[in-house]
Amino acid sequence: MKISVVKSEAAKVSADVLVIPVFGGTDFDAKKVKDIPDALRSKFQKMAAGVKFTGKAGQQVLLQTEGTDHLVMGLGDRKGDVAASLREACGAAFHAARRLGYKRMAFALFGKELLKEEHVEGLALAAILSDYAFDTFKKENGERKVEDFMIVVDEARDMMKFRKAMERAETIADGVNVARDLVNTPAQEITPSHLAEAAKEIVKVSGSVLKLTVLDRKACQKLGMGAYLAVSQGSEEEPKFIHLTYTSPRPTKKSIAFVGKGVTFDSGGLSLKPADGMMTMKCDMAGAAAVLGFFATLARLKPRVNIHGVIAATENMPSGKAIRPGDIVKSMNGKTIEILNTDAEGRLTLADAMTYIIRKENPDVVIDLATLTGACVVALGEEVAGVMSNDRGLAKNFLAAAKNAGEKFWELPLEDRYRSLVVSDIADLRNIATNKYGGTLTAGLFLEEFVEKKPWAHLDIAGPAFAEKPLSSYIGRGGTGFGVRTMITFVEAIK
Ligand code: BES
Ligand code: ZN
Ligand code: ZN
Repeated sequence: MKISVVKSEAAKVSADVLVIPVFGGTDFDAKKVKDIPDALRSKFQKMAAGVKFTGKAGQQVLLQTEGTDHLVMGLGDRKGDVAASLREACGAAFHAARRLGYKRMAFALFGKELLKEEHVEGLALAAILSDYAFDTFKKENGERKVEDFMIVVDEARDMMKFRKAMERAETIADGVNVARDLVNTPAQEITPSHLAEAAKEIVKVSGSVLKLTVLDRKACQKLGMGAYLAVSQGSEEEPKFIHLTYTSPRPTKKSIAFVGKGVTFDSGGLSLKPADGMMTMKCDMAGAAAVLGFFATLARLKPRVNIHGVIAATENMPSGKAIRPGDIVKSMNGKTIEILNTDAEGRLTLADAMTYIIRKENPDVVIDLATLTGACVVALGEEVAGVMSNDRGLAKNFLAAAKNAGEKFWELPLEDRYRSLVVSDIADLRNIATNKYGGTLTAGLFLEEFVEKKPWAHLDIAGPAFAEKPLSSYIGRGGTGFGVRTMITFVEAIK
């Protein structure tokens, strides 16, 4: 799909459809909607009255003609989150385009309330994310695709800025789509070795700002990563411990580490999951995929902070070599863990990954992203991720970045009184709580044992990382790349 920003009057746009977004409210007046050709005016007013169109978000009126169709879309309140409404409207327009076979779509950003850089960026982002399809395994893909997406502006003054905003959106969307591809591709292909290869490829195309180290099983054994390797021992696939580094070309002393859960398939191990629960478990590397997608954007975005990306990649499989419930392992920071359920494997891999990066690089902040607990999906549903943090300032900054990026997170507590639930009788820790409640919180408390008092945030993305029903109008089913946009917004806000 070609995407561009062009200056034109509404009447002169050459496209199959022109989308006209309008604000809603009690004062909405169909007669005052500009940019509808005179010939369609009375038709629009009749249709708008017929469907009680008031510009509410999600409402649409389609005016079909011999030439360019006009699609009027409601944005809702002008005082609301307009960038978010535009992204939603854009996604909805793409649905209409697929239904009606539009190949050339124009989207009007007219007037100073709509024509802003962040709106150009939002539209371009939603367009590219809408255009995504995972069809590498399909013999035929019968989908009708938009070939040309034009953002039409009525003011040429800031054209350079608008084109920059569009390019930025392309970079971000590419990163999100890298993550979506990695999550959607089956686990038979996305093995730990393949994740390491994907990291290598990203470094290769990014030039000198990125570096990569991959540790094999032996190297991890030497470092004492007993928790991570315990997960991996049941699988035929070799574990790969991936460490990416971005060194900012701009002067900075700050550094941040993102640790992504990279379980390429989670069968549960000997604590085997039921068939239904296993069906989507190729998604258990979505945290890792998000870190990789995020790294794919860094050479272009050049944030002013040094960044580490860490992935303890492994598969979680049952076999004669697999870890048994009741086994005790020693993690890299010396704490022993009684593994009572081999399906609570993510925290074991993250424990060693966090110890490694803290000991090796001493970053100022650590953030982990993980499809960690089914309990988080029970608590927050399929669209909202959990955040837990030992640092108020970090939690606040992170949530602000998420809001700006348009991804939904909600904070959960690291409740001190639940800490004893992950203490074992015979080892330092146990990998599941002694009760069955608050599983997201006890998983977070377990992880906190490995952050050595660093400012740290834990993101449980089990819900939104893999969408069984669309996450928004512009992110459909399957891998969502959740987290990439927030990570970018977060590091760019670091001063
Ligand atoms: N990968 C799963 C969590 C998960 C569930 C992710 C649903 C995405 C969707 C994780 O490794 C797991 O199995 N967690 C267990 C923990 C339990 C054994 C304490 C869970 O949530 O059931
Ligand atoms: Zn599991
Ligand atoms: Zn898992």
